[in-house]
This record gives sequence, structure tokens and C-alpha cells, in this order.
Amino acid sequence: MNIVLLGYMGSGKSAVGLQLAIGMGREFVDLDLLIEEQLGQSISEIFDLKGAVYFRKKESEILREVLNSKNGAVIALGGGTPIYGDNLKWIKDKKNTLSVYLKIAIEPLVQRLWVERHNRPLIAGISSLEALEEFVRKHLFERAYVYQQADLQIDVSDLSVEQAALAVQNIFQKEQGII
Ligand code: S3P
Repeated sequence: MNIVLLGYMGSGKSAVGLQLAIGMGREFVDLDLLIEEQLGQSISEIFDLKGAVYFRKKESEILREVLNSKNGAVIALGGGTPIYGDNLKWIKDKKNTLSVYLKIAIEPLVQRLWVERHNRPLIAGISSLEALEEFVRKHLFERAYVYQQADLQIDVSDLSVEQAALAVQNIFQKEQGII
């Protein structure tokens, strides 16, 4: 089974995914990194130079390649991946793929994103913490119903990366009847 991690920007998909893959001895695939490698540009450069529509098209294509070729991997999506096109349906229809939503409360999320906002084109231009919070509240509200369609969900608001990775491993193994 592949484990697909989804959730809002800053929820820890990449860090938790890497830790989970190490802990379970699995391959780790970070979709954003793969897009950057395949296109030879950073996500910010792709948005700036080619636009959001181009990015979403490539994101979809590369997601399909990953889902069709991997088995037993931990796959961290981008925050927008399940939102666009048929991506969520693709993920849900794959029999060898279990999706986990990393849910996080607004306060820790905004704190984290404020520090990291420069690498994220959707929020890089926001110039105050208050404006970022307002944006994130609205945006997460719009997206949450999609994230909630994941097979499983974990609230990672109060968890360290290591704790969150263990929590995902635990819920996955329970779901699989392994423990
Ligand atoms: C996006 C999230 C980013 C990246 C791109 C768009 C989004 O990934 O794919 O900037 O639409 O939420 P992270 O969730 O890894 O930051």
C-alpha cells in the first residue's frame, strides 16, 4: 500500500512523510520536489514564469505517474493537489493507496506559515500576520471539505514531527489489521 499524505500548506506533509518513510523503511516521494526536479525550476519560479494553470497541469500529470508506478511508498502531496481536476478521484480510486489528512489548527498553522511564507507563491505576498491569518482561515475553510474525504485523518496540531509520524504509522497499521 502507498500512504498518501494530504493537507494544507504547513501541516507537515513533507517533514512527517520523510520521518514516516524512514521509520517504516519505505520509499519517500515528495510531489513538490519531484515537480521541481522534473521541470528544473522551483515551485515559486514555475508559478512566476509559467503560471498557476501550468503548475496544476504538471502537478496532475506527475501525480498520475507516481500513483501508477509506486507501491509501498509514502507520498507527500502539495496542499493544492487534491483540490484540482480529478486528482482526488485518482487517489481514492487507487486500490493500493490509503490517504491520510494531516489536520492542523489555525493558530500553529499561521505561526509556521508566517516564517516559511517566502517559499510559497500563494502566500509570499502577504505582508502581515493578521492578513495571513485571514487568508488561511478562508482558504482552509474552502478546501477542508476536500481534505476530509481522505480515508483517515489525524490532528497534528499538538504533535512533533516524530509524534505525528508515529501516529500515522499507528493508524495505518490498525487500518490494515497489522496491529
Ligand atoms: C500549494 C501548496 C504547496 C505547493 C504550491 C501550491 C497549494 O505545497 O504545491 O505552492 O495550493 O496549497 P505545500 O503544501 O507542500 O506547501
